[in-house]
Amino acid sequence: MTRLAGRPAEPAGARPTSLLGRDIGHLVPPGAAVPGLVTLTGCDRAVWESAAGYLRVRDNDSHTLYSYGLATALLAQTPEARAEVVLPAILLHDTGWSAVPEEHILEAIAPRARRPELVRAHEIAGARIAREVLTDLGFASADIEEIVAIVDGHDSRAEALSVDDACVKDADKLWRITPHGLRTVQRWFGLDADEALRLVSIRTHAHLHTAAARAMAGALGALASIDLTAERAALADG
Ligand SMILES: [Fe+2]
Ligand SMILES: [Fe+2]
Repeated sequence: MTRLAGRPAEPAGARPTSLLGRDIGHLVPPGAAVPGLVTLTGCDRAVWESAAGYLRVRDNDSHTLYSYGLATALLAQTPEARAEVVLPAILLHDTGWSAVPEEHILEAIAPRARRPELVRAHEIAGARIAREVLTDLGFASADIEEIVAIVDGHDSRAEALSVDDACVKDADKLWRITPHGLRTVQRWFGLDADEALRLVSIRTHAHLHTAAARAMAGALGALASIDLTAERAALADG
């Protein structure tokens, strides 16, 4: 919501004043009635609680949650994919970075990376962690095998094994063009916002597997590039 210049901050918990002069809060629907909103549900929350301890390096925890949101949006457009495979796989896919020394991770994920063996190492470790977590949580063995295979190759394998794998790969890559992804890439590699957008866009669009992800990438890139136009920057609301 836009805050008028000079207006003091609202007290915590207070409803912001409506510019209409009347309260329309009663017209806001409950979240369950709104399409497109995402929360972690049921067993996904249990997988996250098991995975989160392995994701506390290089923003992998935030990356994982945003990718979970994108995976959920992809599933809504890809009815042949199975949420019970895609969502645990995206929550677990980068847990293996916990087995790679943090000081080496940027060298592994940088453009023209010099340490491809570390990318492979995080996939192998992630596959092992995924198997342990899913076995502990009582997942069906066939789903465990599919999820482990997706994690073990999510970066190094260019082709998708299945539509489930395609959704995981696309959700992982789409994160790069989100506001959080772009800020993270800027910080990691010392780029300005325009450089970061151009770098991630050229490394994302051509590598997506689903039509839904290509449409999402187009929308995310369009918004990010409008943010960088002189016309947008000149507007008073920043
Ligand atoms: Fe990864
Ligand atoms: Fe990832």
